[in-house]
Amino acid sequence: MDELDNKVEQVKALLAAAVRDYPQIAFASSLGAEDMVLTDLIDKYRLNIEIFSLDTGRLPQETYELMQAVSERYSTPLKVYFPDKAGVESFVAKNGVNGFYGSVDARKACCFVRKVEPLRRALSGKGAWVTGLRRDQAVTRGNLEVSSFDADFGLQKYNPLLDWSHKDVWAYIRHNDVPYNKLHDEFYPSLGCAPCTRSVTPGEDIRAGRWWWENPDSKECGLHVSSSQKIAHGAGVSA
Ligand code: ADX
Ligand code: SF4
Repeated sequence: MDELDNKVEQVKALLAAAVRDYPQIAFASSLGAEDMVLTDLIDKYRLNIEIFSLDTGRLPQETYELMQAVSERYSTPLKVYFPDKAGVESFVAKNGVNGFYGSVDARKACCFVRKVEPLRRALSGKGAWVTGLRRDQAVTRGNLEVSSFDADFGLQKYNPLLDWSHKDVWAYIRHNDVPYNKLHDEFYPSLGCAPCTRSVTPGEDIRAGRWWWENPDSKECGLHVSSSQKIAHGAGVSA
């Protein structure tokens, strides 16, 4: 068994244990490369995990194309959550439609209304959630745990690909012919909303194209805010 097969087995074991411990479990997919690996694994091994995506209303066309391809390829449904319309209207009235460029506070307010509030709805009634976070994606992600209690949402949080490398993710995608966002072929290693993501140049950090006008230590949208304060809580399997 090569190293990648071994990592895949560990993720399967972790997710199977997570489903046993928390039957009400959901996976948040941004349709990024990591999330496509997890979608493929959840679907292939019939893990009983709901998959959902937050459509901010500002995603690139290529992400919508992938969303459509995912619904056609996989039998596990992809549930899509939209922002609260009154919240978006009030953000736009106060800040302007592109007001997120104006200040970190306005940017976080936009992320709150378009991502965090819908995430709260998506996670209500759940016991645990799964993400595609990887440790080496950002300075803000160094202290994450594979499994920990998420005090913000009051539920267990699993990051099964935490110790996968960028190379591992792409090896899995290529070996398993997993659909992926075409923008990854155009130097967009990390993808979010269209107005807040740009391509990177060789040698630049993976997330350099996200909120490129901000400092690296503010570059989180609020989905994973207090990850560094989480309490470690083993799930019985290490990844
Ligand atoms: S972000 O905080 O900068 O936007 P990133 O794009 O790295 O996050 O994604 C990290 C993880 O957050 C993803 O693997 C996914 O679990 C979750 N996530 C981010 N954006 C979304 C989204 N639009 N819908 C669902 N989950 C998301
Ligand atoms: Fe708004 Fe940009 Fe955040 Fe998307 S990434 S929710 S457009 S501030």
